Amino acid sequence: MTDNEASAKLDTSIPHSARVWNYWLGGKDNFEVDRQVGDQFSGFYPDITVVARSSRAFLKRSITYLAQEAGIRQFLDIGTGMPTAENTHQVAQAVAPDARIVYVDNDPLVLVHARALLTGTPEGATEYIDADLHEPADIIKAAGRTTLDLSQPTGLILMNILGHVPNLDEAVSIVRQLLAALPSGSYLVTADGTNVLDGPAFEEAIGVWNANAPLSYHLRRPEELARFLEGLEVLEPGLVPCNKWRPSPDAAGDDLREVDEFGAVGRKP
Ligand SMILES: C[S@@+](CC[C@H](N)C(=O)[O-])C[C@H]1O[C@@H](n2cnc3c(N)ncnc32)[C@H](O)[C@@H]1O
Repeated sequence: MTDNEASAKLDTSIPHSARVWNYWLGGKDNFEVDRQVGDQFSGFYPDITVVARSSRAFLKRSITYLAQEAGIRQFLDIGTGMPTAENTHQVAQAVAPDARIVYVDNDPLVLVHARALLTGTPEGATEYIDADLHEPADIIKAAGRTTLDLSQPTGLILMNILGHVPNLDEAVSIVRQLLAALPSGSYLVTADGTNVLDGPAFEEAIGVWNANAPLSYHLRRPEELARFLEGLEVLEPGLVPCNKWRPSPDAAGDDLREVDEFGAVGRKP
């Protein structure tokens, strides 16, 4: 799809996951309809902005760990979302300028913005692929075509996307197929919304989302999310509220509250 074709496919009359998420993160890449649904959602569950920010901070800490401590030099980030301040390639390339990143999303607006903004270091590589999570074999094929060498350990990033797959068994199967294509020493970084801490308020807000948006989202229990990590060596401190995953020593205020989004990092043995 060219950028023109992508622009033509943009529908600004329905809310979209990537744009509402961008609104909660304080970004400007969203439309009136996204802001309306985003505000309706936060009317039921004001902490969604804390969840969104905590989730991005977890992404930063986990990618930094993979690049700095685990020596990972290539990343496959599926469900990219709208570019924000610290995207996977910026975090990884700040540690290792030669890091190679493939982003995958199936939203036309994400495509347009990502092509314009997700440019990395000259030593490394950043590619954007228009593909669907439900077609893991296609994603692997495209990611390995030019940018990634999938015989080498790879960081697989699945942040706030598996909740868009309603059937848990299907989501687990997608994760397994993706991991099966990666060698030993690869990592999975994942986090999604849960329903253990804020129960009814978060569920009610999700009900508003699901009544308005074409792509539903499903909160899960941590033991359900744990199925994505089966067969992996889960790093300390395990699957935890994502702001409790190796918090930075200078974390303060909101950053220290437990959020209803659990995250973990697992290593393929
Ligand atoms: C809530 S956003 C999360 C963005 C980013 N991963 C983060 O955590 O900040 C979900 C993203 O997943 C993308 N997405 C949802 N379903 C998808 C699918 N089946 N295939 C590819 N991308 C998908 C959406 O377009 C959106 O960009």
